[in-house]
Amino acid sequence: MFVDSHCHINFEGLGDRLPDVLDKMRELQVTHALCVSVDLETLPSVLDIAERCENVYASVGVHPDHEHMREPSVAELVELAQHPKVCAIGETGLDYYRLEGRSIDDMEWQRERFRTHIRAAHRTDKPLIIHTRSSSADTLRIMREERAEVPGGVMHCFTEPWDVAEQALAQNFHISLSGIVTFKKATDVQDVARRVPIERLLIETDSPYLAPVPYRGKPNEPAYVSYVGRHIAQLRETTDEALAQATTDNFFRLFKIARPVAH
Ligand code: NI
Repeated sequence: MFVDSHCHINFEGLGDRLPDVLDKMRELQVTHALCVSVDLETLPSVLDIAERCENVYASVGVHPDHEHMREPSVAELVELAQHPKVCAIGETGLDYYRLEGRSIDDMEWQRERFRTHIRAAHRTDKPLIIHTRSSSADTLRIMREERAEVPGGVMHCFTEPWDVAEQALAQNFHISLSGIVTFKKATDVQDVARRVPIERLLIETDSPYLAPVPYRGKPNEPAYVSYVGRHIAQLRETTDEALAQATTDNFFRLFKIARPVAH
């Protein structure tokens, strides 16, 4: 019923108990998950899970927070994206949250890396998975300059105010909400959850991080996307089924994944 559009089940704590993670998904009616790459060094573990699990898909990319990792080229991302289970480029984007004494000017390497990913998305016609933190103006500017609206994609784990969501929506992007939407003080995110057009909404866990209430502070896993979905259904005053149906349809359409035949 629900789909987790963004998780890291290759990470420690999830990858080493994968059969449990998949069982729990079945139990809570989470049918599919997208395991998102954060660097080239650990990409093999992402692809390995996607190859072994029919209902898990993969992406290729290097996260803006992973600074001292091998830098990808457009050609390399394009090549890696040929893998049959790879359905997106990312996660990529900008993160100015931890500048560690540097200025925003010093972060040109992040902006270059982001442009590389957008160019790879154009070349492969695969959507982008974009992370933005403390950097929304530059993120939106680079998206515009590189015409990211052509491949399109998703602003993942969205925590920005509504005006940023509007600008991303205007660039043909989807908005994905994580367990943060269940946190009492996350009023900006709840506002976005109410206002995003239903056909542009995705849900995710970003597990192992950011477990939703009632598991807040505990390790997260894809099964818990059901709590994210149910909470948003309440905020939007719709049914769990309608919210699940719409976000699942959006997932398969955005990532161009052939819909599995229902048994
Ligand atoms: Ni992530």
